[in-house]
Amino acid sequence: SRPGIFIARKVFPEVVARLGEHFDVEMNDTDHVLSPEQLAQRLQGRVGVLTTGSERVDAALLAACPELKIVANIAVGYNNFDMAAINAAGVLATNTPDVLTETTADFGFALLMATARRLTESEHFLRAGQWNRWSLDMFAGAEVHGSTLGILGMGRIGQAIARRGAHGFGMNVIYHNRSRLDGALEAECKARYVDKAELLRCADHLMLVLPYSPESHHSIGAAEIAQMKPSATLINIARGGIVDDAALAHALREKRIAAAGLDVFEGEPKVHPDLLTVPNVVLTPHIASATLGTRMAMAMLAADNVIAYLTQGKALTPLNPEVTRE
Ligand code: GLV
Ligand code: GLV
Repeated sequence: SRPGIFIARKVFPEVVARLGEHFDVEMNDTDHVLSPEQLAQRLQGRVGVLTTGSERVDAALLAACPELKIVANIAVGYNNFDMAAINAAGVLATNTPDVLTETTADFGFALLMATARRLTESEHFLRAGQWNRWSLDMFAGAEVHGSTLGILGMGRIGQAIARRGAHGFGMNVIYHNRSRLDGALEAECKARYVDKAELLRCADHLMLVLPYSPESHHSIGAAEIAQMKPSATLINIARGGIVDDAALAHALREKRIAAAGLDVFEGEPKVHPDLLTVPNVVLTPHIASATLGTRMAMAMLAADNVIAYLTQGKALTPLNPEVTRE
């Protein structure tokens, strides 16, 4: 019989069909995330799994699923993977870089603009029938063009956002990252490297695009927000947990900064209740890579990683290429 693959969240039929050319495929076709116990149970006897950020792959799951050879995340971020445990188990892990870069950068800009120009707040006002009131400064927001865009985390997505800001909106782009870009990339992105303190102090719009790790946990908390301009906006399209959401909600209520735009949350799909009650925040349910084309490309890349590794021994976008079959 053919090797078995499990798909942990519902994906497009085309992706199931492609995997089905090689494997016996089963899928969680509900809209709900499986519990760790359910996932382990569904993985029995299976050699590969397609996951999303909602499924944790750790030592307990790997111990319960000794036949597993590959875990393919349908996401560029992979903080749901315990890489030490995955390496120790000799399992290959893959993610989906590149295919979502431009789409995610588009959304980062959408969220920046919606936040700066108070898009959702003003829509709620209109829907609530309050437009009989008007004033010259009604929903007056922050300037985007010509302002200073600060980017924390300068991977591929950060660079794509820098290009949009510098070339499209004439923004002054500054960034901070663990490592500096080379000169040619800095010139192309028109981005200037600064330390974190200068980034916080100078950004009119601060965009977070760094991966989540224990080191980036609460990179933005009360102390960092206190260093930002009172007129600044904060945009998080990276990961929940990079921002201290309770501290942010408090700062927004106190108008310590002007506004925030958040696509990711600590403990999502739960959202900190205080964020739901402050008006000066734009909230979206982790959709930065969500266009049909990009979600298809991400799921196909995950499937192609599984096929390439299990049939030819070499995945397309491995996270731990030192792991090999047998
Ligand atoms: C989504 O958050 C991703 O990491 O691709
Ligand atoms: C991460 O891969 C990024 O592109 O920012």
